[in-house]
Amino acid sequence: MRASRFSLLALVSALASIVAGCEQSAQLPMTTLAPKSDLGEAIHHLFLEVTAWDALIFVIVIVAFTLAVFVFSTRAGEAAPPSQASSDLTLEVAWTVGPALVLLMISIPTVRTIFRSQPEVAPKGSLEIKVVAHQWWWEFDYPDGHKTANEMHIPTGQPIRLRLESADIIHSFWVPALGGKRDVVPGQINHLTFIANTPGDYPGQCAEFCGLSHANMRFRVFVQTPDDFAMWQKEQLAGPATPLPNDQLAVQGAQYFATSPCTACHTVEGVSKGYIGPNLTHFGSRTTLAAGVLKNDPADVAAWITDPQKIKPGAYMPALVLPGPKLNALVAYLESLK
Ligand code: CUA
Repeated sequence: MRASRFSLLALVSALASIVAGCEQSAQLPMTTLAPKSDLGEAIHHLFLEVTAWDALIFVIVIVAFTLAVFVFSTRAGEAAPPSQASSDLTLEVAWTVGPALVLLMISIPTVRTIFRSQPEVAPKGSLEIKVVAHQWWWEFDYPDGHKTANEMHIPTGQPIRLRLESADIIHSFWVPALGGKRDVVPGQINHLTFIANTPGDYPGQCAEFCGLSHANMRFRVFVQTPDDFAMWQKEQLAGPATPLPNDQLAVQGAQYFATSPCTACHTVEGVSKGYIGPNLTHFGSRTTLAAGVLKNDPADVAAWITDPQKIKPGAYMPALVLPGPKLNALVAYLESLK
């Protein structure tokens, strides 16, 4: 009696967590239960399919267990159970073939979904974006030559083909809303192919431990309507904004930047050619900085320049100790790079 009460309790709490999980999924940005791409949906269906098979097996095992304990057990005073030395061929075939069939039913759709996520040939009309993972930030190179960092923009309805490369060690590209994880391996090119279907701003995260700031290796994917995406792309293709003459602070910042140590690692088109750190040509148009760790506002930019190690331990960005007015001018210039 106690055992059946326990089973009931376990079942009720499992159901409660499932319901709670479904309700929360709408507010949880890293959930995989609210897919926003064809690949995400395929993986979600696969998850439900496998869970259904698992649930069936769970029920069969629990029923068999309950029967064995409460119905077919020998009670005190009863005759000894029949000998277990003989075997039943039909039963043995059944419990070998049954699980084999279930495994087949799970593995066929799983393998199909894996292949679907990385077709050999890029789908017709696809937009191929090169993704380069660095310790600890993301570079996105578009086919028309512009580069961005930590914020990728893509249109809805068009196949997206990501070509994943690493600049140093193994990372893993993961945007839960758009599909599964894919390792980014040095010396190897991996692909991830999907079609996003809902405009929105989706967080991503490196999903392979890659050193001290692995947890700080975040990024965002902005899925836009084709028109909005075309507009964004046009803005990115234009050179960097030059500070307006009446924005004295930004003008001073531009003069300082051109001769600063920043130019050794960062590119601003037409101004500098560094490539170790993120391309800053349109820095001011991004919503975040330091791989999605900080908001892109003047206070956070100043905090990042002054002490990057405090925000992202191990980051290769050196601290730049500047007098207040110089720092403010540099921040104003960076923010003006829309
Ligand atoms: Cu890159 Cu973890």
